Amino acid sequence: MEAIDNIDDIRTKVRSLKKQEKSVAFVPTMGALHEGHLSLFRLAQQHADEVVVSIYVNPEQFGPDEDFDEYPRELENDLAKCEEEGIAAVFAPSDTLMYPGEQLLSIHIDELNKYMDGGSRPGFFEGILLIVNKLFNIIGPDIAVFGQKDIQQFRILQQMVKEFNHDIELIMGPIQRANDGLALSSRNAYLDDQQRKLAPGLYRSLQYVAKQIKEGAQNVELLLDHQKDELQAKGFKIDYVNLFSFEKVAPVTDPKGNNKYILGGAVYLGETRLIDNIIIEK
Ligand code: PAF
Repeated sequence: MEAIDNIDDIRTKVRSLKKQEKSVAFVPTMGALHEGHLSLFRLAQQHADEVVVSIYVNPEQFGPDEDFDEYPRELENDLAKCEEEGIAAVFAPSDTLMYPGEQLLSIHIDELNKYMDGGSRPGFFEGILLIVNKLFNIIGPDIAVFGQKDIQQFRILQQMVKEFNHDIELIMGPIQRANDGLALSSRNAYLDDQQRKLAPGLYRSLQYVAKQIKEGAQNVELLLDHQKDELQAKGFKIDYVNLFSFEKVAPVTDPKGNNKYILGGAVYLGETRLIDNIIIEK
């Protein structure tokens, strides 16, 4: 496996794979790799001949009060995991390579980022579109794989690929969970023992609401309010727990048949922000 930190070499590598008529799947990550990432690598391997991974903690997608400095960085460890998974190449660039000098252009998002994480984290998805555009243009993969845990990210990237004509097929990998249901996340490392015990409560709440909605519950708002109260009583601070349309990522109170919805939640345990979601197809 090659670990590459410059643009020319990763381009040469991908071109040489393509010259050998190999299809290339790309999995962008911010490192601190866990089973969730590894499941995306394996999914990518099912869809392409070779897989390229990027490891880069993108400063543009962190707000001024967010955890950019604390975000776990474990490059050596991550490279060993990639090697073990049979990854063809890892692109691990520096900040100066990704953002050389002043960035005079940015990407504006008109819709799809008003609610969920976009509503709570101004500039978050603009930062993601910026880096994913750069990475797509550098790597030039046939396929790119992202996780369902960041479902709004997936939906916005889907729109970006469509509107900006990236010739890349996007694939979404399912959420990987610990035995008690907690969605795997690099940020779970911030939880202390007590918080870690509470953490799966978010998924349990979402599961309960999803079941009720699928069984035809009418008053979704009331159902959500009850769950939020219960979560708060357990010690969660709620950012949002709500039902959203998949297409527009906008709140929905009366889910109808033949539609796709996201039941999503973001909560804090102490300083740690946890997100999770369930896709509901009615
Ligand atoms: O999902 C992530 O880890 C990041 O948002 C991504 C796609 C690697 C962009 O920095």
